[in-house]
Amino acid sequence: MKTVVITGSARGFGLAMAKDFRRNNFNVVLSDIGEENLKLAKAELEKIASEGEVLTAVCDVTKSANLEALWQKSAEKFAKIDIWINNAGVNQPDLPVCMLKESDIDFLLNVDLKGAINGSRVAFREMAKQGFGQIYNVEGYGSNDAMKTGLTIYGTAKRAITYFTEALAKESESHYGDKILVNRLTPGIMITNFLTSANGGATKVELSDKVKKVYNILGDYPETISAYVVPKMINNKKNNAKIAWLTTARAFGKFFKALFKKNNYFEK
Ligand SMILES: NC(=O)c1ccc[n+]([C@@H]2O[C@H](COP(=O)([O-])OP(=O)(O)OC[C@H]3O[C@@H](n4cnc5c(N)ncnc54)[C@H](O)[C@@H]3O)[C@@H](O)[C@H]2O)c1
Repeated sequence: MKTVVITGSARGFGLAMAKDFRRNNFNVVLSDIGEENLKLAKAELEKIASEGEVLTAVCDVTKSANLEALWQKSAEKFAKIDIWINNAGVNQPDLPVCMLKESDIDFLLNVDLKGAINGSRVAFREMAKQGFGQIYNVEGYGSNDAMKTGLTIYGTAKRAITYFTEALAKESESHYGDKILVNRLTPGIMITNFLTSANGGATKVELSDKVKKVYNILGDYPETISAYVVPKMINNKKNNAKIAWLTTARAFGKFFKALFKKNNYFEK
């Protein structure tokens, strides 16, 4: 039986992917910062019939020791880890850089960038020992060089994630013979708590009508995106793969569909 570890999986995209891996009979390791949310997520997962088991592990990705412990706990239970997803992420306050506090910047970079780098480092080292595995890092706004006031630090982190993941895939190819596949997930816009909160929930992000309009056209619930990307991850055999939901073609299709049917994710 195969095993997946997903950071930041008590809710949102991480939880949606955990459910799809469970539907595909994977053992699933749910990990996040809060014990209570993990318990709730585990109960939700266990409603889904599966041959796999569910393990929970509290892990703050800003602490390397937590990431090391996440691998150890997962490997003690399931012996090997097939897929490791660095999914944990936070948004930034919707402010220009000069109005952010240094602590806002540190907080975001520690979770979104350093957390994924250290998660990749730990998983890569252990996957090199076991001789196989796939690592996925999650791209986001800025990965494709998009720029917008209020997302500069987030975009900087996600642009760096793209570089880092491609460079690590190259290292894998040159030194480890492609045994470890290092890949990117590009989910597009997901209707989750992430869009309306920053600093890990401590700060609210008010969305303008213009932004809501774009999210209503291009956005999807994480379950829709997960149902598309998870089978692709399971079947992936390539290093440096990019598994993308919101491609240019899909975005055009969504603008066209919006002429006939309007989503309203925010006024419920
Ligand atoms: N929502 C979007 O539109 C969108 C778009 C592109 C990419 N992404 C990325 O997708 C990923 C998941 O986002 P989401 O929309 O599901 O967000 P979310 O806020 O719903 O979920 C994020 C999860 O990460 C956890 N988390 C936060 N800090 C953590 C830490 N230090 N250690 C461990 N876990 C931590 C949270 O507790 C939460 O469970 C993130 O990397 C995000 O940047 C989101």
